[in-house]
Amino acid sequence: MKVALLGYGTVGSGVVEVINANQDSINKKAGTPIEIKYVLDLREFPGNPINEIIVHDFKQIAEDPEIEIVAEAMGGVEPAYAFAKTSLESGKSYVTSNKELVALHGAELLEIARKNNVNFLFEASVGGGIPIIRPLNQCLTADEICEITGILNGTTNFILTKMKDEGRDFEDVLKEAQALGYAEKNPAADVEGYDACRKIAILASLALGEHVNFEEVPTEGITKITAEDMVYAEKMGYVIKLLATCKKQDDAVFARVSPMLISKSHPLAMVNDVFNAIFVNGNVIGDVMFYGRGAGKLPTASAVVADIVDAAKHKGTNIISFWSRKKIELKDQGDVKVRYFVRVKDNAEVVSKVQENFKQLEVVEALEGEFAFITEVCSESTFAEKMEIIDYANVLSKIRIDK
Ligand code: NDP
Ligand code: HSE
Repeated sequence: MKVALLGYGTVGSGVVEVINANQDSINKKAGTPIEIKYVLDLREFPGNPINEIIVHDFKQIAEDPEIEIVAEAMGGVEPAYAFAKTSLESGKSYVTSNKELVALHGAELLEIARKNNVNFLFEASVGGGIPIIRPLNQCLTADEICEITGILNGTTNFILTKMKDEGRDFEDVLKEAQALGYAEKNPAADVEGYDACRKIAILASLALGEHVNFEEVPTEGITKITAEDMVYAEKMGYVIKLLATCKKQDDAVFARVSPMLISKSHPLAMVNDVFNAIFVNGNVIGDVMFYGRGAGKLPTASAVVADIVDAAKHKGTNIISFWSRKKIELKDQGDVKVRYFVRVKDNAEVVSKVQENFKQLEVVEALEGEFAFITEVCSESTFAEKMEIIDYANVLSKIRIDK
């Protein structure tokens, strides 16, 4: 089975490494020898044996009838979308780690794959090496999924862990995450939460069978989290994690990505460094958790290669996925119930406004010059109105609290 690999960066080079390392067992599991015939990249790789099969024009791959599987690890929506459509329409299965592509065009590409009796597979697009797409598609189909909550971004979890455990500076840890190949080309995608947002939209779409538009998922990253927030979290028995959530609440579905204070006893509190974990609640199975390395060359490549093997095994058969193009209306963020931890400047006027507005607040022992408290449960819109009255200029930080 001849494969073309698009992109020879962190993940793409990992794919070659994994296939070379485990060639025999991969061939056995695929039921046929897997061979990378072309690698498409913008660059040349002098001195690297891969250079012998480097090509720069996708047409060469599209027009080669020997290529049955195209595996993409380039990133970005274009030209990946055009390459995916061309591949699927010409009867080649398409495997990708590219969540931008999947979140935006997943439903359509699955439909094209179905029509052409090939496969569009994207296990590596969420949770790096963690199997989560296949379980949602296959193992949990007896359930109605009520909730998916996860740590879905390795870079930010790595940053939060190092800031907390080693007192290190945000920028310094981000540089290390980049050097380790965890971060996106533009790391704003990680630290502003956009990457986790696309991932929760993919998982929610698969779980609910209809399209969750990632652009409608309220998203906050970790750039406003400070060393002081970490000190408070520790004192209160919490840790700060960037959580991506999709939950059925009443008759609607709400989704969100934001930093959250979670109790140290919460199962996601122990997920550190580049590890990700995804908690799923189904109405029959109850709670299930998936855990593993959420980013990095080999874990991600492992998921890409597993999809190549699956595509080879299912030659001539489309694996049905439940993700239609019909869009889900998400619950209005303003109606979602929350509790917040808030730090404000310690001045009499501000504190009096806080006490007037949050009648059941829980005062927290504060750092010098600050007043800190936990709000009662209220809707996001009520909280926002009260914060307007207190005036955001007086607010040092506000972080949602789980439960
Ligand atoms: P890299 O930037 O390391 O690799 C991408 C490679 O693709 C580069 O060699 C790049 O060349 C090449 N490329 C980009 N555009 C084109 C194009 N139009 N034609 C040919 N080659 C192209 O990225 P990663 O390997 O880290 O990530 C790849 C994808 O996998 C992304 O979608 C990412 O989100 C996803 N992913 C990454 C993970 C990780 O841990 N790194 C984990 C899970 C998913 P050049 O460098 O010259 O631009
Ligand atoms: N930048 C992503 C992360 C890569 O850190 O999780 C894995 O999708």
